[in-house]
Amino acid sequence: MVSFLIAYASWSGNTAETAELIEQTLAAGGASVKMHRIGTGPVPDYREFDAMIVGSFTWDQGSTPDEVKDFVLDVGAKPDHVYVFGTGDTQFGGDELFCSAAVKLARFYNSALEPLKIEQSPRGAQEIRVTAWAEGVLDHWRHLHELTY
Ligand SMILES: Cc1cc2nc3c(=O)[nH]c(=O)nc-3n(C[C@H](O)[C@H](O)[C@H](O)COP(=O)(O)O)c2cc1C
Repeated sequence: MVSFLIAYASWSGNTAETAELIEQTLAAGGASVKMHRIGTGPVPDYREFDAMIVGSFTWDQGSTPDEVKDFVLDVGAKPDHVYVFGTGDTQFGGDELFCSAAVKLARFYNSALEPLKIEQSPRGAQEIRVTAWAEGVLDHWRHLHELTY
């Protein structure tokens, strides 16, 4: 069974809700999932998981929140398989700054998949995009696994 660490930062709940939808989708696909809300408690050891998923909102003109930067430093390495999602709002700087924390994190971790970008709450019309992305993560990991073993 593939194991995922989902580490996410959320202030007003959108990124947390997105993380929960991803968790449910991965669990439905047979994966085991550990959730870690960044900034609460010790940072789990990424080496205990097959892959890591990082979620962040975007702040202050396209910035990555400080607690997410601290998390990245605490992890202190670039694990092989990192997938990234984020929530944001196009009202703050349009497409250019939309979810740019997620875009930067995906680049930093050399993520094999495009980061998932969600506008505000994932509930409603965007829910299907979250589910499809999480299924894509699972498919990607399974494909790699088949190639490696
Ligand atoms: C002061 C402020 C600045 C923001 N700046 C951006 C931004 O530059 N880019 C973006 O995509 N979203 C921006 N947002 C929107 C948040 O990222 C968005 O509401 C997000 O869903 C919040 O996540 P959370 O509910 O998990 O805390 C900003 C929000 C606030 C309040």
